[in-house]
Amino acid sequence: MFVFSQSKFAAGLQRIVSFRRQDAGLYREIAERLPLIKAERVLDVGTGTCLQLKVIHEMAPHLALYGLDLSEAAIQVASKALVGLKVDLRAGSISATTYDDNFFDIVTCNASMSYWENPEDCFNEIYRILKPGGEVMLFEPRKEINLEEALAQIRENMAEKSWLRRWGAVQMNKFGLKRGGSIGMKLYTLKELKQLAAESRFGEHNSIDKTALLNISIFVCIHLWKPSSAE
Ligand SMILES: C[S@@+](CC[C@H](N)C(=O)[O-])C[C@H]1O[C@@H](n2cnc3c(N)ncnc32)[C@H](O)[C@@H]1O
Repeated sequence: MFVFSQSKFAAGLQRIVSFRRQDAGLYREIAERLPLIKAERVLDVGTGTCLQLKVIHEMAPHLALYGLDLSEAAIQVASKALVGLKVDLRAGSISATTYDDNFFDIVTCNASMSYWENPEDCFNEIYRILKPGGEVMLFEPRKEINLEEALAQIRENMAEKSWLRRWGAVQMNKFGLKRGGSIGMKLYTLKELKQLAAESRFGEHNSIDKTALLNISIFVCIHLWKPSSAE
């Protein structure tokens, strides 16, 4: 069956989008919120073209980098783009991985969880591979947003870009936020996410809040942690 998000076309489109996200400073803004200094290993889930890991490396070169993506096509694009950067790149789903138990200090993702088919299994798998004391920070667009306000902010952020780029970004975001379901995206309310986290192995060890990235107030930061005393 054809799945748009796994196609070569999607991987090519994602490459363009992720370079624009990097240019706008999105990955730096996310990386600045991660506890990078004391960490040893970081996993970026749904890493796409791996630009998030590239930015993390610039900020914390001591870190061992791991990237996972369901799409073979995205992994191929990423491998070509990663000249000179050492990343353990794997194709597969975060619902069942081949990493050891208690392996990562940080697990992060940007705009991937909305595509996970069985998010509770994914949270449980992240719990398994996270070290005791490790932290998870997932950044996603959420349900129930003010779309017009978000699009106005995107226009303002891109005021210096050409009208065509600005128009393209607005149309793409509008499509994703209104009709993402047709390409396999599912957006959640804060209440749904809190319930999902509470029912997973993370239990009460979660803090899920609205957040803005690049001043666009459509995101949620899903912060989960594994207690230091966990087995
Ligand atoms: C919108 S892209 C975001 C890519 C990247 N994080 C970025 O910011 O450019 C979402 C990615 O999540 C991946 N993905 C979807 N479901 C996944 C799963 N269960 N496990 C791992 N990756 C997944 C898709 O293949 C896709 O590359």
